[in-house]
Amino acid sequence: MQKKILVTGALGQIGSELVPALRKKYGNDNVIAVGYSKESGEFNKPFERVDATNKEELRTLIEKYQINTIYHLVGILSAVGEKNPNLAWHTNMESLKNILDLAVEYKIDRLFWPSSIAAFGPTTPLFDTPQETILAPTTMYGVTKVAGELLCQYYNLKYGLDVRSLRYPGIISWKTPPGGGTTDYAVAIYYEAVKNGSYDCFVKDDTILPMMYMDDAVNATLELMEADSEKIKIRTSYNLTAVSFSAKELADNVAKYVPNFKCTFTPDSRQKIADSWPKTIDDTSARKDWGWKPKFDLDQISMEMIKNLKEKFQTKI
Ligand code: SER
Repeated sequence: MQKKILVTGALGQIGSELVPALRKKYGNDNVIAVGYSKESGEFNKPFERVDATNKEELRTLIEKYQINTIYHLVGILSAVGEKNPNLAWHTNMESLKNILDLAVEYKIDRLFWPSSIAAFGPTTPLFDTPQETILAPTTMYGVTKVAGELLCQYYNLKYGLDVRSLRYPGIISWKTPPGGGTTDYAVAIYYEAVKNGSYDCFVKDDTILPMMYMDDAVNATLELMEADSEKIKIRTSYNLTAVSFSAKELADNVAKYVPNFKCTFTPDSRQKIADSWPKTIDDTSARKDWGWKPKFDLDQISMEMIKNLKEKFQTKI
């Protein structure tokens, strides 16, 4: 059957790279990019503007394009969520509930929804965090991720919905900057290194978090969604990781490729969020069940980020 794919949150950090990858694979016209803004950014048509907390707006699109696959990427991230917890709960939960209900009603083949390392909290084991473990986050964003994971599993058990999810680590990318997350320093450091040769990092130098290059994140998503249904044993969300490093190791690595790069560390309110998340993740289940394997280590990430950002901003450094 021809895939007809809807991607919500298409203008966000992940959407802006997942949509082109999906279009390359399944054909431009079979992937409907959906954003909250009227401006389609760099996207070709089909692009639609939608408020994903409005079920009827979503229904209209599913009917108009005869959608059978959905990637629901809408989400308020951790730092913005702490500034406005009501907005985070409303946006993240209302939109997911709408999508789950419509997916059942319209017999959607497959649904993808992103979870995060933010589903974990300070009482979770910090190192090699297991797949099955304590999920007691202390951010509203994390609360919506745990509630969302359980809701996804519920719809799978109750209605047989083929819903699949990944607990993404921090994602590093150069095309579209992330908006309002805690792991954003690992992106901003490259932007600032290339543009100004210096960066004032908002977490302490010994802060370690799990991270991944965008190409790995896109591949993981495509591979998870391509896998045969019986291979998907976990219907809450799969642990996923590529590489963990401290903010200092990151700064030292950037300095290898940007001569005279200077990094200072001035922690702000996001430090507390970073401290509540694991440092390394055990993603054995993803590797075993559907063959997950990352390709990019920190050196490769730095080389790719700096090369692409230099082109983007036409800087020499
Ligand atoms: N990158 C996200 C954030 O920092 C975590 O999923 O909020």
